[in-house]
Amino acid sequence: MNPGAAVGIDALYAYIPGNYVDVRELAEKRANGRDTSKILSLVGQKEMAIPFGFEDPVTMAANAVAGMIRHFKADVSKIERIVMATESAFDFSKAGSSFVHEMAKLKRGTEVYEVKHACASGTYALLDAVNAVRAGEIETAVVVMSDICRYKKGSSAEYTQGAGAVALLVAKNPKILAISPGTGTCSFNVADFYRPAGSETPVVDGRLSMESYIKAVCGSFSDYVEKAQIMPHHLLAAMSHIIFHTPFPKMAENAFFALCKETGCRRREKEDFERKVKPSLSIPSSVGNVYTASLYLALASALENATRDDIAGLFSYGSGCTSKFFAGRVAPQAGDRIRSLGLLKQLSARRRLSIAEYERVFYEGGEIDNEYRGFRVRSIRNGYREYGLV
Ligand code: HMG
Repeated sequence: MNPGAAVGIDALYAYIPGNYVDVRELAEKRANGRDTSKILSLVGQKEMAIPFGFEDPVTMAANAVAGMIRHFKADVSKIERIVMATESAFDFSKAGSSFVHEMAKLKRGTEVYEVKHACASGTYALLDAVNAVRAGEIETAVVVMSDICRYKKGSSAEYTQGAGAVALLVAKNPKILAISPGTGTCSFNVADFYRPAGSETPVVDGRLSMESYIKAVCGSFSDYVEKAQIMPHHLLAAMSHIIFHTPFPKMAENAFFALCKETGCRRREKEDFERKVKPSLSIPSSVGNVYTASLYLALASALENATRDDIAGLFSYGSGCTSKFFAGRVAPQAGDRIRSLGLLKQLSARRRLSIAEYERVFYEGGEIDNEYRGFRVRSIRNGYREYGLV
């Protein structure tokens, strides 16, 4: 591991929709006489973010990118690439990032494309952008991950929905996370989770998806330590933050304990979990699964508490499946930069929806009464979306 390489995440901005549903209330509504404690402890989710009917992955991505440029005063003349990672795209040809490129007023000489591999595509885009900046091919890049996670109404996946976007600015001498060269990978073909063309919701084998996630996470970690020739327990001990793709908090928790078992590092596992993993679960437990953006929302949550230049290890998982493990050094300014976003305040300012309101807006395309500022879908004509700012 070479934590000194100075290319990585210079700015991070999260867009979280202004409405939420309480997961306990939803589980009670669907319980039908069953005891809800089992499903609630299986997922460990508290709340899930619900977008307005006029929001989509493009509006959320544009809110994140424009917000990042505004908040961190990013120099748009230096942005030479914008990549959008999503698995809730509505177009098979046009990249969502073409709209975002216009909405964020980026220059014409910007590379624009969209990537797909379930929840892992943003990580592949980030690592590619880091390599391109490191090689001097581009000056800075924006990677934006944006998703609406929607499952079948009444399924046990319903308690793990969510929505949101995270934009990352990739640059030299980053003020959030310098990404170290080298990654670990584990990929294999599995039918754990997929969304056939035309279907609004994915086909999910919940148990298989959890097994595949754990196998892949352990596999990418052992690939990393083997390539880097580090003892697994040395690397685990060196990391102050261990951050996982978080479809629901309990999944990240289970993955951490599986990793400790796999690597024989169980002596202080409970204490390590509290210190190194739990802070990353706080924001995700109030937002839910944001697919491609999930790992980076967990990173923001972890860095709310960062005070020194810690080492962070990140696990990305994409169903189907692939997993990447990579590491980086947290910049001294990271904690201040993340806290300046006021994410905890944003979460507490959201409107709590009743279950009837949630069902109307999320499943029936209805509207709800709440204040909104940002990009919205204005019209859809012949499949083409037009956007506006309110
Ligand atoms: P499962 O074990 O398949 O769940 O997990 P289940 O349907 O068997 O339900 C578990 C128990 O809860 C059952 O009881 C239900 O009856 C009960 P049992 O029969 O065992 O006694 N139950 C309830 N009880 C009371 N009140 C209720 C209620 N509802 C259910 N209201 C899982 C499924 C929990 C994981 C579910 O949330 C799920 O399928 N989530 C989606 C998949 C997922 O997130 N997998 C995680 C790893 S894969 C990943 O992270 C990738 C992903 O982000 C996508 C990507 O990469 O693109 C998802």
